[in-house]
Amino acid sequence: MTRLTILEYPDPRLRTRARPVTQIDAAMQRLIDDMFETMYAAPGVGLAAPQVDFHQRLLVLDVSDEKDTPLVFINPEILSRGELCMSEEGCLSVPGYYEPVQRAANVRVRAQDRSGKTFEMDCEGLLAVCVQHEMDHLEGKLFVDYISELKRSRIRKKLEKDHRQRTGAPARAPSSVR
Ligand code: NI
Repeated sequence: MTRLTILEYPDPRLRTRARPVTQIDAAMQRLIDDMFETMYAAPGVGLAAPQVDFHQRLLVLDVSDEKDTPLVFINPEILSRGELCMSEEGCLSVPGYYEPVQRAANVRVRAQDRSGKTFEMDCEGLLAVCVQHEMDHLEGKLFVDYISELKRSRIRKKLEKDHRQRTGAPARAPSSVR
């Protein structure tokens, strides 16, 4: 398994809308394994494929304390939403920042698992919040889109500066590799 590079805000590739997964082949299985490896190592509780520059509708999650409940959602859709709740969110693509975001406290989701089989799942608590957060990534949306422009621009400037210090390059991909 390979640890993948996680794109960081404000990398414009994070704004790409992901395409539906049409083929669940050996390459996809490898990508899923690599995404789990990357997520657990980070460490994080969820990772969406666009965060590792793969723009298809796939996300992985594990919100268990023991880190022994890996979940794969391919082409996920939300069938119903419950009442709203507010909780603190972070994101592996926005490292070091946590802000309150309003989401549905429970959602019913339909998706395919890693074998391509369709399933439905009632999600609540942290799982519900994470599924919605990761599904936003598939639309090119980030949790910082829910906070004030002022806070968002502070975070963006700070992350751009960190990125420059780390790599000597701006946090933007040349257009040729997009
Ligand atoms: Ni995220």
